[in-house]
Amino acid sequence: MLGSGVSALAGTFFTFLKSGDHVVCSDVSYIAVYRLLHQYLPEKYNIEATLVDTADLDALRKAVRPNTKLIHIETPGNPTTRISDIAEIAKIAKQAGALLSVDSTFASPYLQHPLALGADLVIHSLTKYINGHGDSLGGAVIGRRELIDKIKRQAMVNLGGIISPFNAWLIMRGVVTLPLRMRQHSESALKIARYLEANPAVKFVYYPGLESHPQHEIAKKQMSLYSGIIAFALRADPAAHNKFVNSLKIIIPAVSLGHDESLIVFTGPDDERNHFYPQEFSGGHLRFSVGLEDADDLIADIEQALAQAGLKSNDRS
Ligand SMILES: Cc1ncc(COP(=O)(O)O)c(C=O)c1O
Repeated sequence: MLGSGVSALAGTFFTFLKSGDHVVCSDVSYIAVYRLLHQYLPEKYNIEATLVDTADLDALRKAVRPNTKLIHIETPGNPTTRISDIAEIAKIAKQAGALLSVDSTFASPYLQHPLALGADLVIHSLTKYINGHGDSLGGAVIGRRELIDKIKRQAMVNLGGIISPFNAWLIMRGVVTLPLRMRQHSESALKIARYLEANPAVKFVYYPGLESHPQHEIAKKQMSLYSGIIAFALRADPAAHNKFVNSLKIIIPAVSLGHDESLIVFTGPDDERNHFYPQEFSGGHLRFSVGLEDADDLIADIEQALAQAGLKSNDRS
């Protein structure tokens, strides 16, 4: 266990990459991964990085080089919920002699098992679903003993990414209810995603459990349920998105995800990763982490906030 999801990610990168190595990574991923692999490691440590759409296996194959030591994917990806095919990418990594690390935070260990699909390392931000209560920070890397021993030395000892005992205790308390919570998050998120998809005020909805999701079939193959994160946008400008978010009464406008409470965050079109997002996201998007509240209450909250933002919604009286 490490001090945060980021320390688990950074510990993995620092352990298995050195100057002159090459890493392939999802082009859409958590902001710290994007910055570490896109800017920090290339500029400071001469580690080459290629960011590709890892849902596109041909693009991924083309990105691999003789000095590729690591393929790092995030599935579902933050914030788009893009799904990458773990089993197929594991084959590509094996052939290339590279390790495959999978950030499985959005799915949690209850819904997806990357090691069983051929990944070498699985990374979780424990801060999210595994703790589940939004009151502690933690990270974990899971894999073969010889790999984990190396990460332990580097991330815990050399980089000091150790978790505090109190945070570890909170997470151990929270994880007990993980199966119950993940079933509820998934059930509510599917209901809300279907509601959003049918709503004329909504521009698009990405949720891996929707048949319309571009990688729904892959999600079906490798996830047992689809978790609680929905990406969507309104047919409106950024000001109306902000008005919508600030009018919500149950759903809390805040970063982070996977908590008992519903959280939503609006990312405007000025985001530094915007050019990597699917085209629909370019006007800005919302990342909605569906909490454990009653799904109908959440839908009612969305309805009233859409009305406050002057957007015409479904008439669901
Ligand atoms: C997919 C993913 N991985 C890692 C992290 C980082 O986790 P932490 O906040 O525990 O450092 C996040 C945070 O949002 C995330 O969404």
